[in-house]
Amino acid sequence: MPATENTEITELIADVREQVLYLQELGVETLEFCGDLKAGEREQISNLKLEIRNSEAISNFRSEIPDIKSVSAKPPESKPAGSRLASLPSLSKLLGSGPVRTKVDQGGPRDMENTAITLNADELPSLPEPTETIEQIRAEIGADCTRCKLSGLGRSKVVNSTGNFNADLMFVGEAPGADEDEQGKPFVGRAGQLLTKIIESIGLTRDDVFIGNINRCRPPGNRAPETDETIACKPYLKREVAVVRPKVIVVLGATAAQNLLETKVPIGKLRGHFHDYLGVKVMPTFHPAYLLRDPHKKREVWEDMKIVRDYLNAQG
Ligand code: URA
Repeated sequence: MPATENTEITELIADVREQVLYLQELGVETLEFCGDLKAGEREQISNLKLEIRNSEAISNFRSEIPDIKSVSAKPPESKPAGSRLASLPSLSKLLGSGPVRTKVDQGGPRDMENTAITLNADELPSLPEPTETIEQIRAEIGADCTRCKLSGLGRSKVVNSTGNFNADLMFVGEAPGADEDEQGKPFVGRAGQLLTKIIESIGLTRDDVFIGNINRCRPPGNRAPETDETIACKPYLKREVAVVRPKVIVVLGATAAQNLLETKVPIGKLRGHFHDYLGVKVMPTFHPAYLLRDPHKKREVWEDMKIVRDYLNAQG
């Protein structure tokens, strides 16, 4: 068999294997063919399965399929970030190999066209140098924050970010829902359980990553946070990003992605490639709550997570 065909079959098998593993991660136990089989087709499929199982060529390929790479997890670290300031990556390291960063156009008539503009690194705003710890930021916010009107609109708990304060990977959602409001932790409801599976599908656990929201208080009826509410809350997220200094932020759903990246470009166009937030790579993807409603979109989320996983693996 020619080498190119070998490679294609190897890639195909690896791809199928990854997708099956991902589906298993998400709780899928059986896959069924939903079409009508014409006379003799069922027999043809059985014969084909037998042929594949007995094929020496396929067994050889199997041994060549590389194991699914998983991101090597950093041990969870809850020590104050201030104590590791000296070892924080420099901004030039965060910017990656090239001297330029690209950024989604942040406004104006071309906004909806998802135009990317290229700027020199020194023309773009960067993360502030961290001079504080996550605990200090939480203390400043306080348990009874009244900086926006959500405090008077039925919120019970301020939901702070959680996880590894030294994480390479951070997830950012929109705002807490009912379960999060009750427990005071982000992503603990049904969408949160799916987020856990998404994290685990790339070989990490929730303890390896840092998880937060643009807004820390539940909007009534789960409506999207309003601009004044976001303006009051987002600076604290920015300060946390400056402390954690993740290599990648995965931003979940249209509202959070458009808010973090300050764009109106639809999520379907934003997802699938990296954007920039103050020198940190940002991968927008669909919100897990959306995946619960439309499971077909899990395929795209998996594609996005593979890009993130491969980038983190390449960084070492
Ligand atoms: N949805 C979000 O965006 N954030 C949460 O914390 C939970 C659900």
